[in-house]
Amino acid sequence: MHNTFKEGIIRLGKVFPMVLVLLISIICWLPKAVQGQDTLAGEAEGVVETVDSLVEETAEAAAEITENQPAEAYARGGYSKQDLRRGERLFKGLVPFGSGAHSCASCHYTSRTDTLNWNPSAFDLALAWHKDPEYRIQQKMNNPTGMRMMTDHLDMTVTLEEERQLEAYYEAILEEGPGELRAYPVNSIIFWGLGVLMLLAVVDLLITKKVRFKAIHVLILIVGLVVHMQYAVAESRNLGRTQGYAPDQPIKFSHLVHAGENAIDCNYCHTVNQFSPSSGIPSNNTCLNCHGVIREGTRSGRFEINKIHQAEESGKPIEWLRIHDLPDHTFYSHAQHVNAGGLECLECHGTVEEMHVLYQHADLSMGWCLTCHRDNDADFVGNPYFGIYKQLHQDIKDGKIDAVKAAQIGGEDCMKCHY
Ligand code: HEC
Ligand code: HEC
Ligand code: HEC
Ligand code: HEC
Ligand code: HEC
Ligand code: HEC
Repeated sequence: MHNTFKEGIIRLGKVFPMVLVLLISIICWLPKAVQGQDTLAGEAEGVVETVDSLVEETAEAAAEITENQPAEAYARGGYSKQDLRRGERLFKGLVPFGSGAHSCASCHYTSRTDTLNWNPSAFDLALAWHKDPEYRIQQKMNNPTGMRMMTDHLDMTVTLEEERQLEAYYEAILEEGPGELRAYPVNSIIFWGLGVLMLLAVVDLLITKKVRFKAIHVLILIVGLVVHMQYAVAESRNLGRTQGYAPDQPIKFSHLVHAGENAIDCNYCHTVNQFSPSSGIPSNNTCLNCHGVIREGTRSGRFEINKIHQAEESGKPIEWLRIHDLPDHTFYSHAQHVNAGGLECLECHGTVEEMHVLYQHADLSMGWCLTCHRDNDADFVGNPYFGIYKQLHQDIKDGKIDAVKAAQIGGEDCMKCHY
């Protein structure tokens, strides 16, 4: 008995609140049910309409802001640490943009590489932004003007807030600079590794005497010494020489695209017949003959070709870095070799028309000049200047020799190449 009563109370305690809630909801629902379904639907429509017009209004207001007041609203500088952190993450694809997940760094590389990358680097982008106070990332991204901008940035729009964050990151990149090219020091590892091994061999041979077979010590010492000698010779020979030199040029100019694919003659750009040492590199105007019309490249888009036009507008010539450079105490003339000697560019500069990035093909050592002079014929009979070599002409007539090497007409005279 006692038990059943208690259970009854518990049951009642559970049921009572539920009944109360049910009652209250019925009371609340009744008037609406009386008003009828139509009014309910009407009300809902009204709410949707007001929300719609509100959305439209804010969109219009936002459009007005970006259309009418960009000059006033946009100001550079004063970026917070938060802007910078967010900007770097956006650029590297660690957090998504509002328009979706994009990794800008997958194309716009953030550290220097030794392979050619046709996309502008992050540093290039930052520099272009820095140089032009009117430059707006948002405008470039949201209103693409070229094919590459359109296809490569498909659906990558940038909001005002994201633009500021990217700008903060740009500033950080500018401070860091393009970065140094880091080559893996294989040679110094071999050099120092062998050095340590040789030292151990000597110590063991003379003092510790752990390894019984003396041949091992001797072998290490011989190999080590030979390799070290080779390094020493190679290093001293390369002092001041720059074979293979291929610096980053201010514009990603490709000989493969111009002299190769488009078969433009070397002489169109290089007036190497002249004596003046620096007249060999074409001026902006030469580029503009074609790039006044060709405004976009297949690989690089507009970015690189734009630099030609920027140079033209600013009046500053493009600062090409010189690759081949003989020491001042030597004299070399293309006129002598290309015109008089009839040599092809290829013989000294390699297959330039296959190089995207031009590099120094020959080592330009004195031995290189002399070897060719000893092996190559001068255009002896055809060139009236060589009339002064009476004896050699006589020898040819007599059939003693059938050709004259460059070396025989002064190609080995110190004074012909040295002042
Ligand atoms: C698929 C490769 C690719 C990706 C990904 C990419 N870009 Fe680009 N971007 C390019 C190329 C190529 C150009 C040069 C196009 C041109 O100038 O015609 C360029 C140009 C630009 C320019 C214009 C530079 C100028 O001054 O004209 C901006 C700004 C830019 N990118 C920002 C970004 C941002 C921000 C992202 C990430 C949301 C991004 N890009 C992602 C390839 C890419
Ligand atoms: C459309 C113009 C153009 C054409 C055509 C052209 N070049 Fe060049 N060349 C340049 C420019 C610009 C540079 C400087 C940038 C560079 O080094 O890539 C240059 C640099 C060079 C250099 C290195 C100069 C230095 O600084 O030591 C050599 C060598 C050279 N060109 C050879 C050739 C040969 C050979 C051909 C023909 C197969 C050729 N070029 C065709 C424009 C051209
Ligand atoms: C005789 C015409 C001619 C001259 C002169 C010329 N170019 Fe070009 N250039 C071309 C052609 C053609 C292309 C290929 C366009 C394409 O990719 O569709 C090109 C492409 C380029 C590209 C883009 C390559 C790519 O594929 O993205 C760059 C950068 C460029 N040229 C720079 C220069 C510079 C710098 C000079 C002056 C030293 C120069 N050009 C002189 C005809 C010329
Ligand atoms: C016999 C070898 C030889 C031949 C052939 C040759 N060059 Fe050169 N070239 C050189 C040397 C050496 C230099 C470096 C000159 C210096 O530093 O004073 C040079 C430098 C250059 C330069 C750098 C600018 C300058 O004038 O110093 C250009 C551009 C160039 N050569 C283009 C050409 C072209 C184009 C041809 C073919 C028409 C050609 N060369 C044929 C040996 C040669
Ligand atoms: C690929 C072969 C080759 C190379 C490399 C070469 N030369 Fe020559 N050189 C010749 C030939 C061939 C002649 C003769 C040209 C003629 O017919 O007048 C010549 C002639 C000369 C002359 C003129 C000699 C005279 O009698 O007046 C000088 C100076 C000269 N070379 C300097 C150099 C220098 C400096 C270098 C190295 C930087 C060099 N050459 C590299 C082939 C070469
Ligand atoms: C065909 C041209 C040519 C002739 C002929 C020539 N030289 Fe040279 N010489 C050069 C060149 C090019 C260099 C620069 C090589 C370098 O930078 O490694 C040079 C460098 C030198 C150097 C500097 C050392 C060095 O390696 O940098 C000396 C010293 C020298 N020559 C002496 C002579 C003497 C002496 C003669 C006459 C027997 C002579 N040369 C004939 C082209 C020539």
